[in-house]
Amino acid sequence: MAMGLWAPLNPPLRDWHGRGVWLVGASTGIGRALADALLAQGAQVVVSARPSAALVGLAGSHPALRTLALDVTDAAAVALAAPQAQALLPRLDMVVMCAGTYTPMGVSDFDLAVIRRHWEVNYLGTLHVLAAVLPRLRAQASGHVCVVGSVAGYRALPKALAYGPTKAALIHLAQGLHLELAPLGLGVSLVNPGFVATPLTAQNDFTMPALQTPTQAAQAILAGWARGDFEIHFPRRFSYTLKALGCLPMRGYEALVRRITGA
Ligand SMILES: NC(=O)c1ccc[n+]([C@@H]2O[C@H](COP(=O)([O-])OP(=O)(O)OC[C@H]3O[C@@H](n4cnc5c(N)ncnc54)[C@H](OP(=O)(O)O)[C@@H]3O)[C@@H](O)[C@H]2O)c1
Repeated sequence: MAMGLWAPLNPPLRDWHGRGVWLVGASTGIGRALADALLAQGAQVVVSARPSAALVGLAGSHPALRTLALDVTDAAAVALAAPQAQALLPRLDMVVMCAGTYTPMGVSDFDLAVIRRHWEVNYLGTLHVLAAVLPRLRAQASGHVCVVGSVAGYRALPKALAYGPTKAALIHLAQGLHLELAPLGLGVSLVNPGFVATPLTAQNDFTMPALQTPTQAAQAILAGWARGDFEIHFPRRFSYTLKALGCLPMRGYEALVRRITGA
């Protein structure tokens, strides 16, 4: 791949016909919408999540879709599932780690068990999938791993003491992966969504600004992969606002965030 200043950071992915995609954490929400969008583009897809009615409902819903139940917090189960997912696909071209959990938590409800759960699902779960697929991807010297972070990982926001740090860590992890895997010919992308209407955010008791549908999120992700972007963030008006806020000195940032959120 060309390494010029304006060259894409990843090999652009535009033709999905016959490509094999493993979507981990995709029985609902953004991952589910991504499965639909990829299937519509001709990809072969394996969807994983814990056993549930949603996962059972997906099985058999499309001839190019397979399901594979797993819990990302169980490293041994993920290691066993990875070759099974590969066997269900023509090739392993893309692995997307979108399994996630979110419980709003501030200092008044500080709870170590909740925090630990966030690290187990959001961060360690991602590492477990990576550990299971990286040897294969490195050996074939092609393919793409996609980490799903969040704009909540840019800088601290209220009630995100459990969720926010896991997403900040995932952003750092994806940057480190790209640094080392891009020279080997592998793609690495980081998806940082703003608010998307999914079961994860249904618990929010405030009006979510710039709320998108899972279908809009999936289209933004496909567009980012087609451009060869590293970071795919959306909706742009919201994610750029948070990026700009994140550049402010601490005093200004905190004053604005308190005013905007009422925290
Ligand atoms: N929605 C938003 O506004 C938003 C914003 C920024 C980032 N994100 C991120 O986007 C990703 C997808 O979230 P979403 O909004 O689409 O939420 P969602 O609809 O709740 O989807 C989460 C998926 O992860 C699966 N999952 C959860 N725990 C798992 C585990 N231990 N093992 C395997 N699968 C597991 C869920 O299925 P089971 O529970 O049945 O296993 C489900 O398929 C998450 O990483 C989230 O942090 C979402």
